[in-house]
Amino acid sequence: MKTANNTRLPIGVFDSGVGGLTVLKALREELPHEDLIYLGDTARLPYGTKSPASISRYACQAARLLQQRDIKLLVVACNTATAVALDALRAQMHPLPVIGVVGPGASAAVAARPGGRHLVLATEATVRLGAYRRAIQELDPAASVRELACELLVSLAEEGWTNGPIPAAIIDRYLQSLGADAAELNSVILGCTHFPLLRGAISAAFAADVSVVDSASTTATVARDMLQTMGLANESGHNGSLVLLATDGTSRFARVGGWFLGKKLSAEDVTLVDL
Ligand code: DGL
Repeated sequence: MKTANNTRLPIGVFDSGVGGLTVLKALREELPHEDLIYLGDTARLPYGTKSPASISRYACQAARLLQQRDIKLLVVACNTATAVALDALRAQMHPLPVIGVVGPGASAAVAARPGGRHLVLATEATVRLGAYRRAIQELDPAASVRELACELLVSLAEEGWTNGPIPAAIIDRYLQSLGADAAELNSVILGCTHFPLLRGAISAAFAADVSVVDSASTTATVARDMLQTMGLANESGHNGSLVLLATDGTSRFARVGGWFLGKKLSAEDVTLVDL
């Protein structure tokens, strides 16, 4: 129900670390009047190599902290947490709406290449669960989907090594496992929060007519539409505020996070929290 109070509550966003700041950036652009609280669980990054039980526990703890801060919508800006724990998070947060990034990413790929041959680049956990495959084939049964776990690309993005011969060689090494299928692809889905930073290097590994899609802007559009539909949009017209929380390493969060957010951050912009 729409009340002056709940329209003014912030949107909570969480990720395993700073990668979800790519989604936060898209949310800020799409929803400039909304207040945002972002939590990066940097103490426990990466989620992508952990077991489903640990990922689910971490994700539910991160969501609980945001729930305690009184939010009106939760955006799970982590592909791995979405793939593993979206249902558990929805059950925990009910009746609060929860949006994950996998569905919007799948929609973006299907819209770009209907009936297409898609390649999903993601973490081990996301690939193991086939989350993108299921989401894409539900939307477009004619589509075909290959999934490839590319854990090293997370480290490359965190290190800022996003261009030049090192990422090119590592991407090439991963793609070797596709064999001749690589030449048949129509779209590549950046199914991990870190991979938009490597977009140039990833695009360069494919033919020019291959679409490279990520879920950030589609997730922001889904969030905007959901707030409108539920009567929760902040119509005060003020500039939305931003609170950044991390479970470890505020200096590193600021340094690396600035690349993902496209904005210089300092350690003082980030508050340390414990889950
Ligand atoms: N945020 C994760 C994702 O989008 C990548 C980093 C991690 O493994 O925690 O899948």
